[in-house]
Amino acid sequence: MKIFTDEFLKIENSNIVNQVRDRGFFMFENALTPEFIKNIETDVKKADLSLNKNNVAGVYFTHGNQFFLTHMLAASKSFYNYCTNLKVIGFCKEIFGNMFRLKALRYYENFGGQHMQWHTDNRRYDKEQGETHTSAPGIIFLAYLSDVNDGEFQYIQKSHIWSGDNTHHDYSVEYVDNNYKKDIVGFKGKKGTILIYNSWGVHRAKPTNNKDFVRKTLFFQVEKDTSHSEPIIVNAEFLNNLSEEVKMFLGFGKKANNSVYPNTDIYTMPLNKKTFRIFSKWLISRMVLYIPGFLRKRIRKIYNIPSNK
Ligand SMILES: [Fe+2]
Repeated sequence: MKIFTDEFLKIENSNIVNQVRDRGFFMFENALTPEFIKNIETDVKKADLSLNKNNVAGVYFTHGNQFFLTHMLAASKSFYNYCTNLKVIGFCKEIFGNMFRLKALRYYENFGGQHMQWHTDNRRYDKEQGETHTSAPGIIFLAYLSDVNDGEFQYIQKSHIWSGDNTHHDYSVEYVDNNYKKDIVGFKGKKGTILIYNSWGVHRAKPTNNKDFVRKTLFFQVEKDTSHSEPIIVNAEFLNNLSEEVKMFLGFGKKANNSVYPNTDIYTMPLNKKTFRIFSKWLISRMVLYIPGFLRKRIRKIYNIPSNK
């Protein structure tokens, strides 16, 4: 299966590195093949929602405004092939030198009506120390898996150069409007667009009030410092190209002390159409166990509950 289009593969890594170093970002539309996107969609659907299923599955966050499948390296061989691809590893070598490590990864869906603050991604949450930040260079790969015409990613160009002068990571709308309005770059783009940006740069998703809007994104973050990362859970079946370089990239045998993102529990899950359907069906399936057999059979039939459930 081809992951990247020929047009994207043709671009020299040095060219991408120069743009990320200079402006802070690189964007390319039509970078991912439709086949790759389809495979990711299938894997995400198969993993589904984490509800007492004995597999790696997805979670809701921010009361249903976002859906995450963090452990893509356990759920999707296509994702594994994508983030350990020679093009990616070659780019990392070019920008970081010989040492670098995958810090975090995820598939996520943003639903409409969300207001994200301007921020940088060079902070981290250590399980013991709490919020802290890294002094190491880092980059983020974003890939749009749906057409993005609204709620797009926005980046303040060259902000990676000055953001390190501050100790905070969040910036108010007023501050950005007053000081950097002319430097805001928006990234509307088609399904298959790749965006690579410096994790020290100030960015956000443009606020949108359109409730029907869904943005589907693949994310992974790489840093030069190899001493920490979020927990990286992989499916051993996928590891058929396990070079020493890939082992280093995935952090084999190294501490993974950062808290997993996002931190969820049953209360970050919304009562939406999907969860209501699941829970009402489950509740009925439990209640019918206490009623006479002939009635149980009928009710199971009405609600499409298999007889062995
Ligand atoms: Fe961010």
